[in-house]
Amino acid sequence: MDELNAPRPLAVVTGASSGIGYHLARRAAEHGYDLVVAADTPLADAARDFERLGAKVQAVQCDLATTDGVMHLIQAIGDRDVEALMANAGHGLGGSFLSQDFSAILHVINTNITGTVHLIQHVARGMVARARGRILITGSIAGFQPGAFHAVYNGSKAFIDSFAIALRNELKGTEVTVSCLMPGATDTEFFERAGMETTKVANDPKMLMQPDEVAKIGFQAMLKGEADVVAGWKNKLQVAMSKVMPAQATAQMHRKLAEPGTTEPTVQAEHHEK
Ligand SMILES: NC(=O)c1ccc[n+]([C@@H]2O[C@H](COP(=O)([O-])OP(=O)(O)OC[C@H]3O[C@@H](n4cnc5c(N)ncnc54)[C@H](OP(=O)(O)O)[C@@H]3O)[C@@H](O)[C@H]2O)c1
Repeated sequence: MDELNAPRPLAVVTGASSGIGYHLARRAAEHGYDLVVAADTPLADAARDFERLGAKVQAVQCDLATTDGVMHLIQAIGDRDVEALMANAGHGLGGSFLSQDFSAILHVINTNITGTVHLIQHVARGMVARARGRILITGSIAGFQPGAFHAVYNGSKAFIDSFAIALRNELKGTEVTVSCLMPGATDTEFFERAGMETTKVANDPKMLMQPDEVAKIGFQAMLKGEADVVAGWKNKLQVAMSKVMPAQATAQMHRKLAEPGTTEPTVQAEHHEK
């Protein structure tokens, strides 16, 4: 088959409707992948953008916090060979643990952990059977920090950061690589969705990286098959500090950034006026 008619490789990107996932899917389209993209709200606009970049796109609306939602995505992928999986969908939940709705807590855990590992297990089995594939999992530097006022979310990312390293090790000797992208605070819809508009972290432009930049770093790491990548030097510094500081001190530092009502919403408001 000549190069022009060769089938394009397939990438699956979850959480592709906005933020980091949107830019991961754009990168994949620019690099010649066709796409299956998923989110829990309609993603027709995003899909159109990816199509303009030359990709054949299948958009799947599903709640990846549910088994039915993950199965819906798995069925949409069908028996096609997945060349790259970017398991990126996730969300936060701000505020004090005791004030949170338990159903909202479960949704964080089921999206960030349960749905993510369910999808990865299915896709990775196919990749190993074909001896080919790249997996990028979006963890977070939050996984290194006991997250006062974002406790369940940070715990979920500690799981993901750890899981990604362990799975990478288990797949040594196969042709399948697992990379973990660990962003720090990024200027997406994340904070508003998590109800964190009045926190310091959501409103300090010096702390926020842009999602296209974060996605570029993650995508490159995935292509190179790197183990993990912390996006940005300030975040690398934060991780280094988290590793040497007593956990109680890290939790206190996190409290200052994530406690609601410590600042007026500015950055996020501007973000949504764009
Ligand atoms: N922003 C940050 O500061 C930051 C820092 C470190 C790590 N991260 C991680 O980066 C990833 C992407 O977040 P982002 O910052 O790009 O935020 P975002 O703009 O809110 O994007 C999150 C994406 O995940 C999707 N999603 C969330 N829950 C879902 C569910 N149950 N089922 C299906 N799709 C779901 C959303 O879909 P809908 O649009 O349909 O809701 C959206 O496409 C997340 O895993 C997040 O934890 C973010």
